[in-house]
Amino acid sequence: MTTFVTLVELYERQGYYLRCGLNAELFGELNKGLSFATLHRAENLELVCNGGGISPLEIYFLESLFTDYRPSRIFAIGNAFGWSTLALSIIVPEARTICIDACQDAGYEEGRRITNLIALKEGLNASVVKGISPTDVETIIKAEFNAPIDFAFIDGWHTNEQILADFLACRRLASPDCVYLFHDVVNMELFDGFDAVLAHDGNITGKVLMRTTSGMAIAFPTAMTEIFEKVVTAFSQDNKLLADLPQPQAPHVRKAGLMAEN
Ligand SMILES: C[S@@+](CC[C@H](N)C(=O)[O-])C[C@H]1O[C@@H](n2cnc3c(N)ncnc32)[C@H](O)[C@@H]1O
Repeated sequence: MTTFVTLVELYERQGYYLRCGLNAELFGELNKGLSFATLHRAENLELVCNGGGISPLEIYFLESLFTDYRPSRIFAIGNAFGWSTLALSIIVPEARTICIDACQDAGYEEGRRITNLIALKEGLNASVVKGISPTDVETIIKAEFNAPIDFAFIDGWHTNEQILADFLACRRLASPDCVYLFHDVVNMELFDGFDAVLAHDGNITGKVLMRTTSGMAIAFPTAMTEIFEKVVTAFSQDNKLLADLPQPQAPHVRKAGLMAEN
């Protein structure tokens, strides 16, 4: 079974429904986030928490990323209701996956509880711990792993300053071959933060992945370029093939380097 199909089944078994993977174009300007996942209680359809999960296309990206590359210690920032945490653990079951979340209200606490319950019931080596990045990153990584992390998924607070702080906190406890994946870089205009990540360390290279729904970005050691070349090419968009399209209104699409600045 594919990861997406498995995930839907796991949540529904616990009494939750998902809304995700919808074609936002069909629902008008005010509903742009419909590709992403939200979780609802089956009995009253209420939203469990405000934070949304990655899109089905981004789950497919993770499956593609982890075909030829298998990390052992996965650390993530930002759980919401566990959609990406459980996806990572299903795709790389041999790895230990630890996610931290600030759990700032009861909805996110419920999200943490559901994630840990599903992980336990399904025998997944994944867990969510309450904690705030960057302050709690060191303590939690040291407590949860017996060696440096080798993959970090950063999807917490979406500002340029925060993703750099998240990266630096992870970097201190990461192996030299650690790979960093950032969610929402295009959607939330996190280009400066991502550039600062790449500039921080002369040994890291990376790319914005325009063929992921949120515009994820990946950073990895230059020495590992060959491992990621095919998947990065497949999930990037060649600018030349956009020249005949109307110029996008959205400034973040222009800032991504796609199409000319107006
Ligand atoms: C977009 S949601 C994460 C979605 C999740 N990665 C997924 O795709 O299923 C962002 C989450 O980050 C958490 N968060 C925000 N700032 C944080 C911080 N500084 N440290 C830890 N968690 C944070 C929020 O509580 C929220 O649950």
